[in-house]
Amino acid sequence: MDFQYSFIPKVYFNKLLGSYNDVEIYEISLFAPIIAKHYLPGQFVILMVNEFSERIPLTITKTNPSEGSINLIYQVVGFTTKLLSKLKQNDVIYHIVGPLGRPAEIKYYGKVIFVAGGVGAAEVYPVAKAFKECGNYVAIILGARTKSLLILEEDFRKISDILYVTTDDGSYGEKGFVTDVLTKILNEEEHIDLVYTVGPLVMMKNVSEITKKHNIKTIVSLNTIMVDGTGMCGSCRISCSGQTKYVCCDGPEFDGHSIDWQEIIARNNTYLLQEKEILKNL
Ligand code: FAD
Ligand code: FES
Ligand code: MG
Repeated sequence: MDFQYSFIPKVYFNKLLGSYNDVEIYEISLFAPIIAKHYLPGQFVILMVNEFSERIPLTITKTNPSEGSINLIYQVVGFTTKLLSKLKQNDVIYHIVGPLGRPAEIKYYGKVIFVAGGVGAAEVYPVAKAFKECGNYVAIILGARTKSLLILEEDFRKISDILYVTTDDGSYGEKGFVTDVLTKILNEEEHIDLVYTVGPLVMMKNVSEITKKHNIKTIVSLNTIMVDGTGMCGSCRISCSGQTKYVCCDGPEFDGHSIDWQEIIARNNTYLLQEKEILKNL
């Protein structure tokens, strides 16, 4: 069958990867052959679970172009991700668009450290894999709150030269934050060419502050609020070196040292009250 023309975003699977108290992380595999075919590492999709749902961006973590599937890994944080987690095999999502965003700039730097916090690991993985395939020395710092929320450990092990694992509570790997390990490495290593990080905004801000002291180029992949994903609605607007940028089409990758972090953090909390309110309806 030529599936280029029959594009019904059906669910192959939607499985729980990890959970801890009220936190859950899922991996969903969807039939999206055109997206799978054109995708490059660093890109994302925007989807609607049903015809009434909002549009949410999720990074493409893996693809299988021969079966026409894309895999997304998401943490249940509110109404729409909760809705998504309820989908079963063969359910159909209402709408999906992608691949969106500029692909990651994959090139040879030399020694690269990837810092992945929580579900940010899902965004780091495809980029780190591509950097390794390009000949870079790849060190990964993978962190989670606790062991049962640690994702993609085996995948990272296969593509890294060295893997550091941290948990906030010490239930697995080194006790502490990814930034503790990063600080230690940067104090010991003579030369690091690039740091690439994805995780909670505060973590990326902290990573960028640490690397700035060491004068190391740092790329962050930003997770601002998005609606259209095409540069028209303005919801993903940020300030970068004093200039206005749109994460959906100028990013999601940016120089971590040029970002107005306070502004991004404040803007991402814009709908907090409404988000809490609507969650009561589920
Ligand atoms: P809500 O309760 O509505 O929101 C919880 C928090 O999520 C908000 O406070 C806000 O910070 C953020 N958020 C809310 N609405 C949106 C929105 N429309 N767009 C972006 N952020 C929003 N999460 C993952 O778990 N895995 C991923 O791979 C992933 N990739 C992303 C890639 C990009 C380019 C971006 C911009 C975000 C990505 N996110 C990812 C974040 C994800 O989109 C949000 O967690 C999700 O939209 C929350 O929706 P909600 O209704 O469940 O939660
Ligand atoms: Fe609308 Fe970026 S999501 S401008
Ligand atoms: Mg929401």
